[in-house]
Amino acid sequence: MVYLSALLVVCLGILLPRQPAGGARILLVAIEQLSHVAELHSIGTELVRRGHDVYSVLPDEFPGVERVVPPGIRVLQFRRSHNGGIRLLDLLHGMGERIMNKRYETPSTISRAVQNQCAAIMNDKRLVGEMRDIGFDLAVVDGFPLMPCGLLVPHNLSVPFVSYSAGFFGLHIRVPNLPSFVPSPLMPFTDRMSFWQRALNVLLHMALELEPFPPNWDYTLLHQFAPDVTSWTELKRKAAFYIVSRDHMLEWPQPLLPNVVFTPGITAVDARPLPSELELMVKSKKVIVVSFGSTVGNLPAEVTQKFFAAFRQTKATILWKVGDTDWPADVPGNVKLLEWMPQNDLLGHVSVKLFVTHCGNNGQYEALYHGVPMIGFPMFADQHHNAVRMQDHGYGVAMDVHTFTVDDLSRNIDRLMADDSAYRKATQLASRIIRHSPMNARETAAHWVEHVISYGGAHMRSHALDMPWYEYLLLDVLCLYVLVAVTCCYLGKRALKRLFACCGGGSGIKDKAKQQ
Ligand SMILES: *[C@@H]1O[C@H](CO)[C@@H](O)[C@H](O)[C@H]1NC(C)=O
Repeated sequence: MVYLSALLVVCLGILLPRQPAGGARILLVAIEQLSHVAELHSIGTELVRRGHDVYSVLPDEFPGVERVVPPGIRVLQFRRSHNGGIRLLDLLHGMGERIMNKRYETPSTISRAVQNQCAAIMNDKRLVGEMRDIGFDLAVVDGFPLMPCGLLVPHNLSVPFVSYSAGFFGLHIRVPNLPSFVPSPLMPFTDRMSFWQRALNVLLHMALELEPFPPNWDYTLLHQFAPDVTSWTELKRKAAFYIVSRDHMLEWPQPLLPNVVFTPGITAVDARPLPSELELMVKSKKVIVVSFGSTVGNLPAEVTQKFFAAFRQTKATILWKVGDTDWPADVPGNVKLLEWMPQNDLLGHVSVKLFVTHCGNNGQYEALYHGVPMIGFPMFADQHHNAVRMQDHGYGVAMDVHTFTVDDLSRNIDRLMADDSAYRKATQLASRIIRHSPMNARETAAHWVEHVISYGGAHMRSHALDMPWYEYLLLDVLCLYVLVAVTCCYLGKRALKRLFACCGGGSGIKDKAKQQ
């Protein structure tokens, strides 16, 4: 009898549909840039906590990666070194110097570097075999707007996928983003645009969001690994769900479809206790945290010296995350340079009163979550837009890294750190609003991942995703009505002419007018 019931249980286990939420196998694919990896791993951490098996695809050579692989996430390595092509990692190295000289990488170069990474993953036969053997239930993939080639990985493995990104081109995935009040993420506009700003915004929305950007996307990879898909945008629209880590607390309210969720950042969570040496540095002091992100590294010496001069004028302690090479000399006594910092945990410490940032999306949301006002020095990509939105909401002030003066910076530091500062009040209110939610950002993301594992995404998928763009924008209908209006005008005019001609009225009136 015992054997029989055991057999029954086993049979039921095989026959019943698997209940994957709780014990699912989930694949993460990020582009090889530390903050992107950290973002996906933030969702991964929550998925591990919920009992899933989480795997992350990472290159075999990736400096600093050990800090962003949390316990529980298993790494699947691909051989990066043999691929030959440009790597995003190398491309972004020493960016600080180049930004000051206004030498930016073009979107097409960045897109090519990301494609090289995808090619390296897909051409690593051993890795692809291993991924097939694991048999994933779902993948969460970096939907990097400049090149979403990571989506090839789950598509080729026939695994359903969720797209995660901080950048958002709504029209790509048919979200009705009216450009009248939704500024392009690449423009330093708010939701209140002037006529000319709206005119430019419409152009950008149409050009960037309907067509792939940059336009020279390579299709070889797509043809090779997704022969049934005709364009990258089509592949993008195959995602079962979209998680986007920017919302109205920094942007502005806008409409969404049910298959998209906006989260307030993704790495902003309650702070953990600091390592003891850091705790000693910040304990019972007023602290300013300075970071220009994982990409910029060190700024040129003359700019660093301007920061130092301003920092010498404050009593606060400054913790500054710097790059791994060329550490600046004659550092002021109250400035501590760190090669790495647990940024979210630091911003959550009671001593931290101000965040000096390059306006990366993650950092801004971490500061907001913990109610810390910001001074922004935007440098590239969406950072100029991010600086404008931060300033518009009153969470801080934006400054120009090329032209700022020591006095201006010093004055702004005092203004923002004052106990009664309006910036402080605005960020603390935002912090309370963000926390007034049953789930934080990464829990929300994990919740939707589990939802898709259990139920798929078909019930949330709008037909708009399957329409051609001119139907979606009603341009065909608009054409019809313009045509009807033009025809009516033309016919009306002819009819009137006829009417006047046959009654002899038209010229008659004129003649009478002349006679008088
Ligand atoms: C995966 O890639 C292989 C190799 O190029 C290709 O032959 C196959 O059709 C792809 N599978 C799918 C489902 O796209």
